[in-house]
Amino acid sequence: MTDKKKTLLSLVQPSGDLTIGNYLGAIKNFIKLQDEYDCYIGVADLHSITVPQVAAELRKRSREIVAIYLALGLDPDKVTIFIQSHNPDHLKLYWVLNSISYMGQLSRMTQFKDKQSRADENNNAALFTYPTLMAADILAYNADVVPVGIDQQQHMELARDLAIRFNSRYSETFTVPESIINESTRKIMSLRNPEKKMSKSDEDKNASIFLLDPLNVIRKKIKSAVTDSLNNFDYNDEQIALKNLIDIYLAFTGEDLDQVLAKYKGKGYGEFKADLADIVANDLENFQNKYNEIISDKERLDQILKDGAEKSQRKTRNLLDKVYRKVGFLQL
Ligand code: AMP
Ligand code: TRP
Repeated sequence: MTDKKKTLLSLVQPSGDLTIGNYLGAIKNFIKLQDEYDCYIGVADLHSITVPQVAAELRKRSREIVAIYLALGLDPDKVTIFIQSHNPDHLKLYWVLNSISYMGQLSRMTQFKDKQSRADENNNAALFTYPTLMAADILAYNADVVPVGIDQQQHMELARDLAIRFNSRYSETFTVPESIINESTRKIMSLRNPEKKMSKSDEDKNASIFLLDPLNVIRKKIKSAVTDSLNNFDYNDEQIALKNLIDIYLAFTGEDLDQVLAKYKGKGYGEFKADLADIVANDLENFQNKYNEIISDKERLDQILKDGAEKSQRKTRNLLDKVYRKVGFLQL
């Protein structure tokens, strides 16, 4: 029965503390879809070293992300949870895909251009071919669907292109993956600058709500989020800061837009923000209690990851053998 399920895969980088953007944009979909698909959810530690990391911190964060996945509701009995570096097939495929990745296409990736322009001491080659590794993550599992935020759309296009290119050059091998993107939470914006994505790595810590922020900090960040001076509670593209807060409200409550507009019409933004602060803080309090319990059981986490490494290798092994045969590597 389970064999018939389609495959879902996604990874998150352990390169900073996770925000509600990661949760609403991506992880919420993993949880929602975990019964419907055969799911592989990973921690992209290989991707993380494209920017300098402190080794001990990176190790710690990798385990923390797993605890976050579980506390948010991923069930390790249903989902394979794994660390990217624990399955060398990602890297084996990465090399092959590098051989069909064009420099031109990689140099047009907006995330690469962005990171390159900000960190000129960090023009490393891994940063350039990072999207090829992401494609390898996906294609190694023959994933049908990949839940991500909109910022990964261009990388998803590359993964699709590489699947199609390999298939036409060597014969049908890879599934061409589809993104799953949640329309209203595809890009949660910064609380300080609604033109910018809410990001783990924003220097202004008030711009992002981190899942593990103390509750009073979460409340304060929401209450002091920028809005506008129109004093008109509405949902539109002229009021993008308010729109973002309403999107967050809808995602946390499950209410629909008309309900929320009716509730706050004619009222000041302050009342809405105070309610939103309570809603998010209460939700995350629940999550944080679970997280604290889970993170203290290192043995259980490591067992989940050992099982995950095995299951993920079991999933990719045959396909990698097939790929290595097709490209002409001698097999004995
Ligand atoms: P990253 O933080 O880049 O490792 O992202 C992990 C996942 O979260 C990816 O699928 C991203 O697209 C998604 N994500 C990150 N930030 C946001 C955001 N502000 N809004 C929506 N999705 C996001
Ligand atoms: N590049 C993604 C990000 O920064 C993380 C990632 C790595 C990923 N491999 C993936 C996402 C495979 C989806 C599928 O968010």
